[in-house]
Amino acid sequence: MVGSAHGGESNRLLITGAAGNMGRLLRPLLRHDDRILRLGDIVEIDDAQPGDEVVNVDVRDPEAVAKACQDVDAVLHLGGLSTEASFDDVLQVNVVGTHNVLRAVVDAGVPKVILASSNHAAGFYRRGDVPEGSDGLPDELPARPDTFYGWSKASIEALGALYHHRFGVDITVLRIGTCFAEPADTRALATWLAPSDAARLVEACLAFPDNGFRVVWAVSDNTRRWWTLAGARALGYESSDDAERFAADRIARFGEPELTDPVHDMVGGAFVSTPLGELMS
Ligand SMILES: NC(=O)c1ccc[n+]([C@@H]2O[C@H](COP(=O)([O-])OP(=O)(O)OC[C@H]3O[C@@H](n4cnc5c(N)ncnc54)[C@H](O)[C@@H]3O)[C@@H](O)[C@H]2O)c1
Repeated sequence: MVGSAHGGESNRLLITGAAGNMGRLLRPLLRHDDRILRLGDIVEIDDAQPGDEVVNVDVRDPEAVAKACQDVDAVLHLGGLSTEASFDDVLQVNVVGTHNVLRAVVDAGVPKVILASSNHAAGFYRRGDVPEGSDGLPDELPARPDTFYGWSKASIEALGALYHHRFGVDITVLRIGTCFAEPADTRALATWLAPSDAARLVEACLAFPDNGFRVVWAVSDNTRRWWTLAGARALGYESSDDAERFAADRIARFGEPELTDPVHDMVGGAFVSTPLGELMS
């Protein structure tokens, strides 16, 4: 058994948004004998495993969030809207929701948080912004959101900074690329975060002794990657996957990527031109 911040004998990790795509992919990879997973979501979680704790929580509800954060050693905050939506919705769910999580973390004495940000917080950078001789766009770039969704992620990054510098919570912000079981298209050949690598990065964040506050790209070491892995590697992350193994199939299906097309040239891809506030089709 491992000691924990709340004095118990095991470590408890709260995963918000645990019913979602990443929650489902990550849970089996993050479940260990010496760790209790507390699974939080606004929708029902129908596939919890023995030993998991399930909490029904709407992150907009501060009392429910406070309860979910009791006796927790770390929070992986995935819950919220994961694509473009109305300004009011992303404000309430993503920004106010994350504020509720961070407030509850401070009140409950939770020492460590991982925030799921997005490439869309920095969607208006392009390939030409990669510094010469570097391995990709730097971590910690000032926000250039591409949508209300991206703006909400930039806002939660800033909230993370506030809660770290005010209250000393260790907060790692992940600017996630494209985290699905497989890269669906040719853009994702560059931006894919393999689920196994996502778990490796989360484990690295959890194990790192002093994260402070940092914003890092979260991608696999894809052959076509153009976002740096320096920040993630500094946490001890080593990617073990590369979307290139899907390249022949995706190129056969979708054609060779045209790198001047915004889908491939811009960090945010198609999001940079989607109508604001409208769901992506
Ligand atoms: N998957 C990716 O490629 C990707 C890329 C960049 C960023 N992200 C971010 O990572 C996180 C997880 O992504 P995902 O692909 O699993 O998204 P998802 O949409 O599949 O899952 C999000 C989960 O949050 C839950 N949720 C929504 N509103 C909530 C609320 N008010 N209270 C509590 N829970 C609520 C949903 O029910 C859902 O289960 C999201 O924050 C997303 O913005 C994901």
